[in-house]
Amino acid sequence: MNTDSIGIFDSGVGGLGVLGEVRERLPAADLVYVADQAFAPYGERDLTSVRERAFAITAYLLDVGATTIVVACNSASAAALHELREQFPDIPFVGMEPAVKPAVGATRRGTIGVLATEATFQGALFASVVDRHANGVVVVPRACPGLAAAIEDGTDPGDLIDRYSADLLAEGADTIVLGCTHYSFVADRIREAVGDGVHVIDPAPAVARQVERVRNGRDAEGTGSTTYITTGRTGRFEDQIERLTGTRHPVVGAAIGT
Ligand code: DGL
Repeated sequence: MNTDSIGIFDSGVGGLGVLGEVRERLPAADLVYVADQAFAPYGERDLTSVRERAFAITAYLLDVGATTIVVACNSASAAALHELREQFPDIPFVGMEPAVKPAVGATRRGTIGVLATEATFQGALFASVVDRHANGVVVVPRACPGLAAAIEDGTDPGDLIDRYSADLLAEGADTIVLGCTHYSFVADRIREAVGDGVHVIDPAPAVARQVERVRNGRDAEGTGSTTYITTGRTGRFEDQIERLTGTRHPVVGAAIGT
């Protein structure tokens, strides 16, 4: 087990998009991915229980040798990122915050939309991002109940995407932020729903760049391994990885913090 690995977690498959971007930037890094599927979806839980899960998963990742933690989940970042940094001041955390800043730079009509989970909108992080970056631009939040679960389960998310996107277009949004890592996997379907004139921002590549900065070149000696762990059913997660990334990988089961 590499004792200088990068730990990445999400409630389920959403963070696999971030994982893929990190792998592209850091081919030799050793990555450990935890999908907390026994407790998914996070976005429809209360923030206290999501925070408990974020702490349990972080403790587990540190235990197995992670020295950088990527909270590849907007809901968990909203619930716990600040507290995790306080509790583990020596560990660099890279989290997800809705990409309001680049969206504000991109909008022409002065209205941006954010698609995310209920939990993400409830956290203080979203309010603070809007406070810091909106700069007079109107920010329309749209919670998307059921969308992460549909992506997780592989059921057709088309109707939900059409409904949630239409709500943002009706408010005049010309730039839309994907504020949940699961939505990266349906970014093209969202682009289709909103049409060519609307800019859709997926923050996963920017997050991977931040991971690369934080690691500061020290992954050159790694073995390039990826370990996939789930708190749910291993066979199901193997199927999901294959469906979403095109490659099958073995998954290890773990009961974390229970
Ligand atoms: N992927 C997560 C996020 O970025 C959470 C989805 C869920 O579990 O509800 O918010």
